[in-house]
Amino acid sequence: MHKRGSILAITFLSVLIVVVACGRASEDDINKALGIVPTATLTDEQIAQATEAANAAASAIAEGGTPDTGVAAMPVGDVRLGQQQFQFQCMACHQPSGAGQGPALTVPDSPVGDMTDQELFDLVRTGEGHTGQQPISTVRISDTQLAAIIAYIRDQIANPT
Ligand code: HEC
Repeated sequence: MHKRGSILAITFLSVLIVVVACGRASEDDINKALGIVPTATLTDEQIAQATEAANAAASAIAEGGTPDTGVAAMPVGDVRLGQQQFQFQCMACHQPSGAGQGPALTVPDSPVGDMTDQELFDLVRTGEGHTGQQPISTVRISDTQLAAIIAYIRDQIANPT
C-alpha cells in the first residue's frame, strides 16, 4: 500500500514537472493538476473601482489633504446581485405585473424613472415616501446590496425582460 502511494505520488509529480517544464503550465493548469478549485474573487470591475478609490485617497493624502472616504457615496451596483436581492427583498410587494401591494418598479414606466439613486436609497433606508414600510437598515440590506438593487431596477427600466 505504502509503495503504491509513493508510485502514485511520483507519477503525479512527474506529470506536474512535465507540464511546468514544457512552459505551458498556466495557473489554471497547476490548479487543475493539484485539484484546487480557486474561490471566487472580485470582478475586474470591482478591482478597478477599488484601485481607483485607493489611488484617489493616496493622492489626496499626498497633497496634504484628507481623503474623501466616500461615506455619502454609494457603491456602484452589480446588476446580477441586484436581481437576487430584489427578488428576495422587494418582489413580494413590487411584482413586475403590478399585481402586488406596491407599484411595479422593474418596468419602463416605473416610478423609479423619476427618482435619483440617492432618493431611492433614502426611501428604502428612511421609509419616508414608502407608505406603510419601516426603514430598512443595513442589517437587512447592506449598502452594497441596496446599490445592487438600484442598479438592477435601472437595468430593467432600460432593458425590460
Ligand atoms: C411589504 C411590501 C413592500 C416591500 C417589501 C417593498 N415595498 Fe416599496 N412600496 C410598497 C408600497 C405599498 C408602495 C406604494 C405606496 C407608496 O408609494 O408609498 C411602495 C412604493 C415604492 C416605491 C415608489 C415610491 C413612489 O414615490 O412612487 C419605490 C421606489 C419602492 N417602493 C421601492 C422599494 C424597494 C427598492 C424595495 C426593496 C428593497 C421595496 N420597495 C420593498 C410596499 C413594499
